[in-house]
Amino acid sequence: MNAAPVSVALSARDVSLWYGARQVLDAASLDVASRCITAVVGRSGSGKSSLLRCFNRLNDEIDGARVQGSVRVGELDAYARGASLSELRRRVGMVFQRPNPFPMSVHDNVGYGLRLFGLKRGAELDDRIEAALRVAGLWDEVANRLDDSALDLSFGQQQRLVIARAIAVEPEVLLLDEPASALDLAAMLRFEELLLQLASRFAIVLVTHNMQQAARVSRWMAFLHEGRVLEFGDTDAIFTNPHRRETEDFITGRIVSGD
Ligand SMILES: Nc1ncnc2c1ncn2[C@@H]1O[C@H](COP(=O)(O)OP(=O)(O)O)[C@@H](O)[C@H]1O
Ligand SMILES: [Mg+2]
Repeated sequence: MNAAPVSVALSARDVSLWYGARQVLDAASLDVASRCITAVVGRSGSGKSSLLRCFNRLNDEIDGARVQGSVRVGELDAYARGASLSELRRRVGMVFQRPNPFPMSVHDNVGYGLRLFGLKRGAELDDRIEAALRVAGLWDEVANRLDDSALDLSFGQQQRLVIARAIAVEPEVLLLDEPASALDLAAMLRFEELLLQLASRFAIVLVTHNMQQAARVSRWMAFLHEGRVLEFGDTDAIFTNPHRRETEDFITGRIVSGD
């Protein structure tokens, strides 16, 4: 067996998911460690995005989706009857492949969640917005553009903006679904630096189809194959000594991810 993380921010146990009659996750279990990056890899269609959506109950928004199993974030049992969806989504933030700024100002994008949770306009709100933009590495570029539309930012800036929006409410876990796949190499390497900095504060789950990226930034790695977590453990150990033939084929590129 591979080693397992000691300090766990999110724990998924036997998570199965159906879209209608079709099962797309089969008893997936993994632990997301605090303050580091856990990579989720696997070929296209293996269930990576679906798994992430189980972590913050985004599958609830999909008609016909049914989830079994448990997801825990600290003491919060995400699928317990009466569990607060807004509390779960505050604690488990998500960033998608394509940045999705809201059609409003830079300021209001980053302040959106904070205001939802009751912080009124004022100095404290502004301070929290600035802090989130600083952590996301965007403050210097937008300090004079806070009232401009977020839609006028460049692609790379929008991506850091949605990260600032996600971290403004101080989540414990940040889910990133292929956030670097549209970036050129230089921008991707800069983005990885940002991810490593973010990982000093948050537990990060990074879906990536880029094995070099997984090797560079992640401490832990889960390999998904046809809806199953076939392998989960220390990233370096999996790269040097994969336990499963399917994992070896995938990480050596004998099977291309297809993404
Ligand atoms: N909203 C949906 N409704 C029905 N099937 C879906 C939906 N989203 C994804 N799927 C199916 O679930 C499987 C896993 O998809 P996905 O989680 O997107 O994989 P990955 O992110 O690894 O590429 C695929 O077969 C996909 O076609
Ligand atoms: Mg996906």
